[in-house]
Amino acid sequence: MRNWVAFNERLWLDMLLLLGFLAFFTLARESNGEAAPTEREAVYETENQNAFHPLRPNIPPDEPVREHAAFYSPTAVTNALQELHAALETMQTEYFSLWLGKWTTAIDWTAAVMGTHVSATLSSLSHSLTYTMPGTFDKTRKLDVEAQMIENEINKYFSHIITYYFGEDHFAIRNQAYDDILWVVLGWLESVQFIDSHSDSHYPPSGENGDGEWYARQFIPAFAHRARVFYELAEKGWDWRLCGGGLTWNPRLLPYKNAITNELFISASIDMYLYFPGDDNCSPFLGAKDQAHPDWKRLHAQEQRDPAACPDGTPASPTYDPIYLANAINGYDWLKNVGMTNDQGLYVDGFHIKDYYRNHSKTECDDRNEMVYTYNQGVILSGLRGLWEATGNITYLEDGHELIRNVIHATGWTDTDIAPTVSLTTPSKHENPARNPYLFPVPAGGWAGLGAHGILTELCDPFGTCSQNGHTFKGIFFHHLTTFCTPLPLVPVRRGKTFGASPATGKLHHQSCNEYAPWVVHNAQAALKTRDSKGKFGTWWGAEADPDARRKAEWPPEANPLIPGDAFDYRNSLSDVSDPGTGEEFIFQPLSPRNVHITSDLNDRGRGRTVETQGGGVAVVRAMWEFLRRYEGGDDL
Ligand SMILES: *[C@@H]1O[C@H](CO)[C@@H](O)[C@H](O)[C@H]1NC(C)=O
Ligand SMILES: *[C@@H]1O[C@H](CO)[C@@H](O)[C@H](O)[C@H]1NC(C)=O
Repeated sequence: MRNWVAFNERLWLDMLLLLGFLAFFTLARESNGEAAPTEREAVYETENQNAFHPLRPNIPPDEPVREHAAFYSPTAVTNALQELHAALETMQTEYFSLWLGKWTTAIDWTAAVMGTHVSATLSSLSHSLTYTMPGTFDKTRKLDVEAQMIENEINKYFSHIITYYFGEDHFAIRNQAYDDILWVVLGWLESVQFIDSHSDSHYPPSGENGDGEWYARQFIPAFAHRARVFYELAEKGWDWRLCGGGLTWNPRLLPYKNAITNELFISASIDMYLYFPGDDNCSPFLGAKDQAHPDWKRLHAQEQRDPAACPDGTPASPTYDPIYLANAINGYDWLKNVGMTNDQGLYVDGFHIKDYYRNHSKTECDDRNEMVYTYNQGVILSGLRGLWEATGNITYLEDGHELIRNVIHATGWTDTDIAPTVSLTTPSKHENPARNPYLFPVPAGGWAGLGAHGILTELCDPFGTCSQNGHTFKGIFFHHLTTFCTPLPLVPVRRGKTFGASPATGKLHHQSCNEYAPWVVHNAQAALKTRDSKGKFGTWWGAEADPDARRKAEWPPEANPLIPGDAFDYRNSLSDVSDPGTGEEFIFQPLSPRNVHITSDLNDRGRGRTVETQGGGVAVVRAMWEFLRRYEGGDDL
């Protein structure tokens, strides 16, 4: 290992020398009155000096120069798509058990997220090729081989989603925390959206009766029903008394109003508003097989009282129900104003009420957990995009772009093209040459708050101490980032209910998202490097880029220097712990012992490669393909 490090240091010295020469050469050229270099050329001049300055001694010198042309090519798009096919195949072959209808090693909430990744990936594969099915709109049409293969692949994995509908342990989840419940809502609504879009693009109706439609449409009512039942379970977690609003995390623990539960509530609410197709299924939710459950009586009684079971026999919830929209707006107003972001502009984990267990009259959120997780920066993004679409209020989009920029900077990415803020009303840096250069001081070890070397990293990744929770987070971030950056519709999808963007806003949103593309590709490439011989992704995408990786791997987990003071990593702790602030007991899945001695591959430590790390790989590779594909579309949308 020493050799490797020494080699790297050597390279670095060479690079410094080279930089020096380049700078000298450029200055000399300038003074000779040669043509001024173009803006994209990285040169050493006052206006553009941060292209090489400040020097970044902790970033491996072999990192590619991030010029836009360098990361984008038609081949790169094709390769990204192939990697996406492969990542999904590995996930479903290695981890999904068809006869049980589930990913057997996942826990309930992570399985809901895996289902979301599969549906989202199928949406991507669906629009990777244009074709219409024979027997639909164009009766004479034949299907070419490539289209047949894609269609078959989509059907194969969609059938996994169907079996998972029955394999999902819905009975257990309804007794879990509100965040667990809300992942289920997002997952089935993602699936509904996929069915709709696949059906619309490839099965255009051939006759007045709409015959020829894709068979999967018949599942929409079932999926929608589950989404609604779970949404209505979670909705009950909102209260205005404690902390002035917000959903509590878990109704069976002391109040903890955290980012994830509320971001999920916002995103699920707006998804219900925009995509929930309505539900006229009034059947009781509990089935006969649930009667064996010890808590059946209580739950059954509760369900009988549940207004969701449409007592008067009328269909339960119409489409575009304004209640969902109001919930999303209230949820975000609360989240934005409760003070849950740190000085890097990242969401911290959440608030307790100090001494609440002794004094239940206290209502103020005054005990903040400074822990930063990647997924807390992600889930809100799809919510913000939906809030814009439902209200036309551009502030939501601007807030989303600002958060994305904060995340990118917190990975140590020093691309100066990405200004700290974006305004979608006043064209910002594109017309304003006085850029706001981002000069983030990259601290020792390259760690910048939520990653190093431009690679998104969970704080537990370098230490091999992530639980199943921690393994799932980065993929969630990339899933919601991809949703956020979907091009804005220029005409309302549903007039009177949703909004379209002005051409200027649509263009600025698109341009801003294009700025993130090199960073997304950089992360996906890093993730791809973690695959083992079976194609399984690991969790620490930055392991290879980090010259200090092995030393970090040997730090004792309890001394994780990346965890800020006043932070409590309850998502990845080693064993049952109680929070000293509240005496609250948390529930944990115990971690497998950390395997520090493994020297061959740092991504085999701890829990090693899991369905959750695979889901992360699928999500980031899908993000890469979607960003490249959209980038290819240029600035004209
Ligand atoms: C309990 O909290 C309330 C509200 O903050 C406060 O007014 C009251 O004095 C507290 N009671 C005790 C016994 O500390
Ligand atoms: C737009 O959304 C922001 C952010 O929540 C809010 O503060 C503002 O009042 C909204 N503007 C309008 C016109 O509704």
